Amino acid sequence: MNDKGIKHFDEELKKIKELFSKEVKLVNEISKLMEIKGKYIGRKAGLLTDIIKQLPALLAEERAKIGQEANKLKKEIEEEIDKLSDKISKKRLEFKLEKERIDITLPARGVATGSAHPIIIVRKMIEDIFREIGYSIMDGPEAETEYYNFDALHFPKDHPARDTQATLYLEKDFILRTHTSPVQIRTMLKYKPPLRFLSPGKVFRADAPDAGHSPIFHQIEGLVVDEKITLGDLKGSLEYFIKRLFGNDVSMRLRPSYFPFTCPSAEVDMTCLICKGKGCSACKNSGWMEILGSGMVDPAVFEAVGYDPDKYTGFAFGMGIDRIAMLFYGINDIRLLLQNDMRFLMQFRNSIH
Ligand code: DAH
Repeated sequence: MNDKGIKHFDEELKKIKELFSKEVKLVNEISKLMEIKGKYIGRKAGLLTDIIKQLPALLAEERAKIGQEANKLKKEIEEEIDKLSDKISKKRLEFKLEKERIDITLPARGVATGSAHPIIIVRKMIEDIFREIGYSIMDGPEAETEYYNFDALHFPKDHPARDTQATLYLEKDFILRTHTSPVQIRTMLKYKPPLRFLSPGKVFRADAPDAGHSPIFHQIEGLVVDEKITLGDLKGSLEYFIKRLFGNDVSMRLRPSYFPFTCPSAEVDMTCLICKGKGCSACKNSGWMEILGSGMVDPAVFEAVGYDPDKYTGFAFGMGIDRIAMLFYGINDIRLLLQNDMRFLMQFRNSIH
């Protein structure tokens, strides 16, 4: 009935088998594999599918034989494709894992931690000591008026005392504060006595920078106002502070001095930390070094802020944080404190703060 006899189909199947096994050997991608699958056993246009579709034209006996062979080949092709597909996926996964492999023997990258600036560390040490004995912390502006910076603090107009502070002038009657003392005035105007506070902050003076001078530096102001505050309280409080900060072997003395807003005024010296009081070049052989300025609040200042000078007395003090930080850490140039040189700042990485 047909010219395409069993032999023809046999040969076709053999050809397909050979072609398939040749082609499949070259495959190393899933997409290519799927293409081949379509080519041989695709439902619509597969080479083998076409053969199977032609089977009904054969005699029953031949049909059974060729049908069996065709199905066997189809199964083989399917199995081969599945096997290869597994193999390719596995290879691809292995490749990916190898590529993304984490080498746990590599040293970790260092974590750069920040640290507090030495000025902040020392400021906080000072604040902590005074906080323990009941001081609070007050703030004030860096751009001030001459009134708060000088007049209310009783600096006489045209008095050389104003010049000693090398004021930097801003626009519209503002100046950069030359000290933290104006915060005394601002706080007294705002609150009624009793008062006990510290006020830390930046201050500014038109000084040419050198190892000992910086146009920007830091002070901490202190003020205590109450009934019956005496010079003894001033001395006791400051002695307590100095010993807490520098240790019990450090002594202190008051040296008479002058500030427009205190009377009497005293400069406070402590044992030279370098020679421990024996005398060296740093203390000009005196064995002492100046650490802060202080005094009993001048009654005229109380009057300026509306406090009754017959009822209240008080003491004030002011110190340079930069100077104390330099003493504390043995820093010999104040400019280092403002330059933000990482090589300098890194030394304070492990400081407690
Ligand atoms: N304000 C002074 C200065 O910058 C320091 C000072 C001295 C502050 C005596 C005070 C004080 O509170 O009582 O030189």
